[in-house]
Amino acid sequence: MERRNQKSAVSEPQGHAGNPCIMVVFGASGDLAKRKLIPALYNLAREQLMPKEFAVVGFARRGMSHEAFREKISHDIKEFATSPVDPDLWNWFVQRLYYLPGDVQDANAYQKLQSLLVEVDKERGTHGNYLYYLATEPDFFSQIIQQLSSAGLTREENNCWRRVIIEKPFGHDIESARALNREIKEVLKESQIYRIDHYLGKETVQNIMVFRFANGIFEPIWNRRYIDHVQITVAEDLGVGQRGGFYDKAGALRDMVPNHMFQLVTLTAMEPPISFEADAVRDEQVKILRAIQTLSPEEVLQYTVRGQYGEGIIGGKRVPAYRSESNVPPDSITETFVAMKLYIDNWRWANVPFYLRTGKRLPCRYRGRYSIQRAPFVLFRKTNIEQLKPNLLVLHIQPDEGISLNFGAKVPGPLVRLGTVDMEFRYKDYFGSIPSTGYERLLYDCMLGDATLFQRNDMIETGWSVVSPIQDVWKALPHRKFPNYAAGTWGPHEADDLMAKDGREWKKCQ
Ligand code: BG6
Repeated sequence: MERRNQKSAVSEPQGHAGNPCIMVVFGASGDLAKRKLIPALYNLAREQLMPKEFAVVGFARRGMSHEAFREKISHDIKEFATSPVDPDLWNWFVQRLYYLPGDVQDANAYQKLQSLLVEVDKERGTHGNYLYYLATEPDFFSQIIQQLSSAGLTREENNCWRRVIIEKPFGHDIESARALNREIKEVLKESQIYRIDHYLGKETVQNIMVFRFANGIFEPIWNRRYIDHVQITVAEDLGVGQRGGFYDKAGALRDMVPNHMFQLVTLTAMEPPISFEADAVRDEQVKILRAIQTLSPEEVLQYTVRGQYGEGIIGGKRVPAYRSESNVPPDSITETFVAMKLYIDNWRWANVPFYLRTGKRLPCRYRGRYSIQRAPFVLFRKTNIEQLKPNLLVLHIQPDEGISLNFGAKVPGPLVRLGTVDMEFRYKDYFGSIPSTGYERLLYDCMLGDATLFQRNDMIETGWSVVSPIQDVWKALPHRKFPNYAAGTWGPHEADDLMAKDGREWKKCQ
């Protein structure tokens, strides 16, 4: 396919500004707020999708005035904005930032919050709508919600709404996720709860649905008759950075699989929903999660692989082993890599393996491939071609977002020789690069009350129930040979063996 900078027939934006509201960010002095949330809100303002009647109230322990908070955020945005900051727009935006110092465990702080919200609401005309974003340590989620409720701040009356966005991780296993769901549902209706998974904010992840359901040519082959296997790689070249303390308790399995990886699996495998209404989409996603075959302890040993990185070289630089990262114990047995094979027990996918792998300190960032069956070899039997390759459909989620399909073609010349060629689509060639943090769409949807891209309680619990048997076996049998892959490589060799046993291989980055 010819590659050129080309404008596609893009339909006009149909969006209108989100509903008036105050967004209260718990954990406002943390990383998420400065790296993602504020830049995302600014991007919404730039796209004119931010309501004019809007304000942010930052809540965190550190003592700060509104003015000091505005200065801090104005300083941070220089580093984390995804596009040049327009001074006039920023000035408009920054006037709508407020700050309240407080301890999330202190009931008095919520009384103060209540008074501030009333004041800001009057000043900015936000119609009494409050959106709470919980970007704190997960241990505080339940408590914050209970406290908000006791202070009357979750009550929806006189046509105003109160919504809560809860960051991941939502629990650390099936029991804790159930307990958290139970606790928050004592005081909130499901329609007020927005469990966020930022993978659903990524354009290319959302595009999986468009790719499948807005095109006639792929859906007929999207099943066990034509797809040989699906492989999904979420690789990161970074290590754990400053998050060692959190990560060491979580590990790659909990950090990535029941949430981000399973979003990719469900969007790939689900049946067409009857509409794009939140529950219609989520019903189909949860059916897939329920259909994933639970692994027996023997299967866990056979079909899953864990790894931890030792020191190695990435991009020509020597990087330390996981056990030498800050806040990681020197004898840590936490995995930084996981690979597994899963089956989805339904009519469409019976016997099609889904191979998943994710890890830190891998050679590059790279995502999702679908391998489509080989054609019958019969026609080429008398030629020097030994084997036909399967066609490969690749969805690149990041970076270089795009889609490619490769297939065999005759290499010009008197002999019959086959080469593999690519049809490639790159987002940036068609749509330019759209500066985004991945949180814009999610915040915007929440302001409009659209929960399609948020997780429902049954999705979270079913996701955990799939990984539980793996957690149990891994806990009972700690790995004795960590570290077992060098930083800058594709994980332990067992991950390659997992594929090789089935006569397949992981596709590496080009
Ligand atoms: C987070 C995980 O949810 O997602 C991190 O906790 C991971 O460990 C991150 O690095 C990956 O997100 P992204 O958007 O950089 O692919």
